[in-house]
Amino acid sequence: MSEHELRVSKIRNGTVIDHVTGGQALNVLAILGIDGASGESVSIGMNVPSDRLGKKDIVKVEDRELSQSEVDVLSLIAPEATINIVRDYEVVDKLRVERPQTVTGVLSCPNRNCITQANEPVVSKFDVVDDGVRCTYCSEIIREDIADHLDVA
Ligand code: CTP
Ligand code: ZN
Repeated sequence: MSEHELRVSKIRNGTVIDHVTGGQALNVLAILGIDGASGESVSIGMNVPSDRLGKKDIVKVEDRELSQSEVDVLSLIAPEATINIVRDYEVVDKLRVERPQTVTGVLSCPNRNCITQANEPVVSKFDVVDDGVRCTYCSEIIREDIADHLDVA
């Protein structure tokens, strides 16, 4: 895309999450715990044309880098995403998300009888399996709408 066509302005410092599955940008914000209330500068493009994906979302967050656990959950809803670290307008690091083997402390188990739902000091843990993520404790599988089970702010 030429400068002429750039839809969302470049950022000075922060993180650009590019090649996000079309329609998932708001879930990306949920994963990052961004609801606008803490005053972050965020730019979003939704369903913008992409050579590689046909349509993609893009999320630019200023003055913020992502934790590994945030990147891990991101990979579940946006497997093609690229994370670009921007400093002084330059992309200084670019990485593809990788599907992790487990995600710990970020999703909550939908099974009300699960030990992780019982006010016990147990941190949620899910194994990433072919058809979704499976609770390590009760084997409940979350197959769809993983972002609806986020345990983050
Ligand atoms: N970007 C930005 N602000 C900057 C630098 C880059 O918002 N100061 C954005 C670009 O608009 C692009 C993404 O970060 O969406 C990656 O930038 P760059 O690596 O320059 O673009 P491409 O080479 O097209 O990336 P890719 O090969 O990953 O598609
Ligand atoms: Zn469970």
